[in-house]
Amino acid sequence: MAEYDYDVLVIGAGPGGYVAAIRAAQLGLKTACAESRETLGGTCLNVGCIPSKAMLHASEYFDAAANGTMEHMGIDVTPKLNMDKLHGQRIDAVDGLTKGIEFLFKKNKVDWKKGHAKFVDAHTVEVAGEKVTAKEVVIATGSSVTPLPGVEVDNSKHVVVDSTGALELPKVPGHIVVIGGGVIGLELGSVWRRLGAKVTCVEFLDEILPGMDGDVRKEARKIFKKQGIEFKLATKVTGVTVKGKKATLTLEPAAGGDEETMTADCVLVSIGRKPKTEGLGLENIGLETNQRGQIEVDGEFRTSVEGVRAIGDVVPGPMLAHKAEDEGIAVAEWIAGETGIVNHDVIPSVVYTLPEIAGVGLTEEQAKEKGAVKTSKFPMMANSRAKTNHEPDGFVKVIADAETDRVLGVWCIASVAGTMIAEAALAMEFGATSEDIAYTCHAHPTHAEALKEAAMGVQGKPIHI
Ligand code: FAD
Ligand code: NAI
Repeated sequence: MAEYDYDVLVIGAGPGGYVAAIRAAQLGLKTACAESRETLGGTCLNVGCIPSKAMLHASEYFDAAANGTMEHMGIDVTPKLNMDKLHGQRIDAVDGLTKGIEFLFKKNKVDWKKGHAKFVDAHTVEVAGEKVTAKEVVIATGSSVTPLPGVEVDNSKHVVVDSTGALELPKVPGHIVVIGGGVIGLELGSVWRRLGAKVTCVEFLDEILPGMDGDVRKEARKIFKKQGIEFKLATKVTGVTVKGKKATLTLEPAAGGDEETMTADCVLVSIGRKPKTEGLGLENIGLETNQRGQIEVDGEFRTSVEGVRAIGDVVPGPMLAHKAEDEGIAVAEWIAGETGIVNHDVIPSVVYTLPEIAGVGLTEEQAKEKGAVKTSKFPMMANSRAKTNHEPDGFVKVIADAETDRVLGVWCIASVAGTMIAEAALAMEFGATSEDIAYTCHAHPTHAEALKEAAMGVQGKPIHI
């Protein structure tokens, strides 16, 4: 009889966990995956990436029809919002994709252990009363919403909500206050603005989108402001009280000072996410988390406990689905005795607003701390395709090492920045110089030509500006 029930047991079926399980099975390992949700796919498929993009996509069409963009192109329409259908297409997208993972599990012979998993010892996990043993256990339990002290979220009442509640509002709120000018606040704030809400974004820092390139942060805020989102920067929310269907927020300058109040029909708390380890029984295996609640791992995703590895949002690094997926593949490869590589220096990030905001590698500020750089910015207004499509906002910025010309970072604001950034990531993965990008033939007319032009700018020879 085998020593363990499985070669690998993955805890959590988000993009980290389900990908790890499938790759482990592909590599011939007997694999199970424990998931407590009713459906597979984790935060990403159920309440994150996918439903938010479904709402962003639909609201983009509504906005284009409502704000005169379509009329401008000779298409006269008067849009009428059907919230049930709008939510219906979101639910369909989630349903189709989560069932797809279930199909992939069956196809690859990954056993889904339904229920909450808790460690008994390093090789034994209890799931729904069953003890499951495995030679290697991978923790991929993801993250959950960071609460704001003094603010109680109740998604069922639709007044003070987190991202999950903000995806499901049954009607457009008159005024929505978004606490936190990060990715969720701007994406979901954009959804409800496009559908007709007044949106105020309260951000603790003096600029939105911390972690992104300084130019991008400033320009993004200008664009969102032009679209109608109001910002209260360097401001903290000290409390929210709810009376019936109305919320009253108390605000203070971040540095201290006079309090003010603001009323809202809906308040979205989006001040970050935290690693999820509660109830996992880490104490039973002597595994401690760091100060930020994350599980520390080495280059092979091994924790300090032999036989236990961890990936995705629960470990340090950006909380992004594609980062979790790549770690999922790599951890399975390490377990199978292969070499699993994730280049954490080249992980693109995208904010799916309109225009999209994307970046990969170092910001200009970070690059300058490391040494001399050459940078160049090419405005989308000078890109023929963006101009023709009436998408003049934004730019592409290339940051290269002043001496070697190697590309250190690329940042863009453009309608399709999320798609454009893939090319920059590939170039950086191969150690490209800005000259390499400048001399790569790009199809015309495409938004991607703006990246080529920005790279030509680093060379001091742009054509179209
Ligand atoms: P998760 O996806 O969180 O999955 C973990 C799973 O583990 C969950 O299903 C949970 O139920 C399960 N679990 C936890 N504990 C246990 C246990 N003890 N037993 C059994 N099961 C357990 N990222 C992007 O890259 N692009 C985006 O566009 C994007 N949009 C987002 C939008 C929103 C609104 C949110 C909230 C997040 C978004 N993210 C996006 C972030 C992305 O969802 C996460 O980075 C990603 O899901 C992390 O994957 P993971 O596998 O580490 O964890
Ligand atoms: P975030 O970390 O992106 O932004 C949180 C913002 O809230 C920051 O700007 C922060 O300064 C601010 N903040 C913190 N405390 C505050 C306070 N008390 N008052 C006011 N502002 C405060 O976190 P967010 O938006 O909640 O997203 C969580 C995670 O989900 C992110 O790490 C992100 O990577 C991931 N995500 C990714 C998406 C994407 O890739 N497109 C989309 C949505 C989420």
